[in-house]
Amino acid sequence: MSEMTEVTVMSELMEYVKRVSDATNEALERVLPAESVYPSSIHKLMRYSSFAGGKRVRPCMVMAAYEACGGAFGDEKALKAAAAIEMLHTFSLIHDDLPCMDDDDFRRGKPTAHKAFNEALAVLGGDALCILAFEVLASVGRIDVISEIAVALGTGGMIGGQVVDIESEGQKADMATVEYIHMNKTAALIRASIRCGALLANAPADTLKQLTSYGNNVGLAFQVVDDVLDEESTTETLGKDAGSDAEKGKATWPSVMGIEESKRYAGELIEKAWADIEFLGAKGKILKDLAEYIRVRIS
Ligand code: IPE
Ligand code: IPE
Ligand code: MG
Ligand code: MG
Ligand code: MG
Repeated sequence: MSEMTEVTVMSELMEYVKRVSDATNEALERVLPAESVYPSSIHKLMRYSSFAGGKRVRPCMVMAAYEACGGAFGDEKALKAAAAIEMLHTFSLIHDDLPCMDDDDFRRGKPTAHKAFNEALAVLGGDALCILAFEVLASVGRIDVISEIAVALGTGGMIGGQVVDIESEGQKADMATVEYIHMNKTAALIRASIRCGALLANAPADTLKQLTSYGNNVGLAFQVVDDVLDEESTTETLGKDAGSDAEKGKATWPSVMGIEESKRYAGELIEKAWADIEFLGAKGKILKDLAEYIRVRIS
């Protein structure tokens, strides 16, 4: 893709990201308890972390998959799923930053939840976001979607990946271990975001199969890119502690394959993701651009 085309693609996509972010923020505003509600401290923390300014990639994945499968932008059920998944992602970040996990001080351009409040409240605030997310999902009334997300977050998904991530610190991890960590701690929730959008639009089995593969490829690419940025970018640009992985001896893609090979591999995964959704034609444009957006972060 030429540089000019890339710029046009990204500005169109950024408009879409803005529309989804605004709609997701409104949905979050409706479901999160007001700061004034007793006990106020935890509601302040939940709002502090939720509105700190994340990229909202997962809500975009939900909505783009929903639309690609015939749903209309902004439908209530898709928005609720998008908001719930963003709360679940925020819960995972609050816990990921805790002193007993990655022990980081900055997130989304602000002090981490345990720094701005305290550790006990950060643990409880993360728990509360997770539980509220399932309450919101229940109100959509689709057991398949609830089940999809629960599986993606459990020990066979995000939490399993986080366990192996922590247990691999300071070890000489092999490729298979790093792939397990990335597929579970990050790709599982991204894949589930896409599948939930498709499930809510009642996509047929063959479409779901292709979107599942797309989700695995962009999900894995997302974490490989995150690892590269941790080494190459700055705390200011990322809004979170750059260089944190090397400091802790994390099992990252660059630690096993090197930076250049990691970048090449991320590009390969994005091309695979594109091939997965080629059958969607014009309906898959946003999903295609979202995949490109992940790659552009390190180009
Ligand atoms: C960070 O996710 C954690 C990973 C899974 C790599 P994002 O990069 O999507 O973080 P926000 O939501 O934009 O803050
Ligand atoms: C975390 O991976 C993935 C989660 C499940 C939160 P990282 O530890 O690499 O995420 P960052 O770099 O702190 O955002
Ligand atoms: Mg981590
Ligand atoms: Mg971390
Ligand atoms: Mg990281």
